[in-house]
Amino acid sequence: MQIVLNSPLDMHLHLRDADMLKRVAPLSSFSFSGAIIMPNLVPPITTIEALLEYRQRILSSTCRDNFKPLMTLFFKNDYSYNFLKDAKKYIAAVKLYPSGITTNSEGGVSNMDIGGLRDTFEAMSELGIPLLVHGETNGFVMDREEEFGSVYEQFAKNFPKLKIVMEHITTKHSAELLDRYENLYATITLHHLYITLDDVAGGMLLPHLFCKPIAKRPEDRDALLKLALSAHPKVMFGSDSAPHPVDKTESCGCAAGVFTAPIALQALAMLFEKHGKLKNLQAFVSDNATYIYEYEPIKKEVVLAKAPFVVPKSYEGVVPMFAGEEISWSIKNVR
Ligand code: DOR
Ligand code: ZN
Repeated sequence: MQIVLNSPLDMHLHLRDADMLKRVAPLSSFSFSGAIIMPNLVPPITTIEALLEYRQRILSSTCRDNFKPLMTLFFKNDYSYNFLKDAKKYIAAVKLYPSGITTNSEGGVSNMDIGGLRDTFEAMSELGIPLLVHGETNGFVMDREEEFGSVYEQFAKNFPKLKIVMEHITTKHSAELLDRYENLYATITLHHLYITLDDVAGGMLLPHLFCKPIAKRPEDRDALLKLALSAHPKVMFGSDSAPHPVDKTESCGCAAGVFTAPIALQALAMLFEKHGKLKNLQAFVSDNATYIYEYEPIKKEVVLAKAPFVVPKSYEGVVPMFAGEEISWSIKNVR
């Protein structure tokens, strides 16, 4: 059995910088045609100059000309209309992090009241720049995303022209919000389609599955699966592949992030085949995103075959999801 995916897109990707960037960028550019690149570097990407320099470092690390990094700025509520107008030529979106909610997000927003965000949101609405949101409060860890739901509703109601992407949704509640507001969209990761909190901490603690937002209950995962497998038109694949060096993950106070970029398409094919939904994978990994972002992707065909692939235990010191395990699908050819 074989399928061909046209121009797969990863709509939420962490590529990091320096040595880590060199290690992981080729793994995404091999099988994806493009990716939304997260700006949570140290310091975060908040100027056009820093963004263009980072883009250049990404391009020289991918060693290919058929991968497009779709750049994002780290949200600040003092971005002016004119600044965003200039930035629009170079960016696909702006990413908002609540302050301190995850890796390198200290410079994020500490008050979600619309008053302080209005000017920037209005400018983004007018310029047609999508707002990507890490939607968690600093409440109890299992409730953080659901608590953030009312913030999403405020944003969606008050700025109906602003495209708002609820990044890496993990709950049934978020899945339901999607259909309540025309301007709400979502990305879903690979790991949140596979795991629940039980897989992370129900037996021996598995730090390579620890991430923000944390995986939730079986009924939450089922709600995400339903959206992804049906390729709901407002949902896109975004891996949130977040590499950390192995000593930072396998340590006390371990870093949050699941590394999935090199195995994502194979594992998605396995999942969609298991549920008899392979025909919907193209929409989930590319077509929906091209409509939502109004983006024409670089042509790339990825041929996936039902043939076993043993996931490496490590990619140059970064441990992937399914490390050492066998996946029943592999990448046969990329053209
Ligand atoms: O688990 C996560 N890791 N969640 C995020 O939101 C950020 C990411 C990272 O950058 O490591
Ligand atoms: Zn992320």
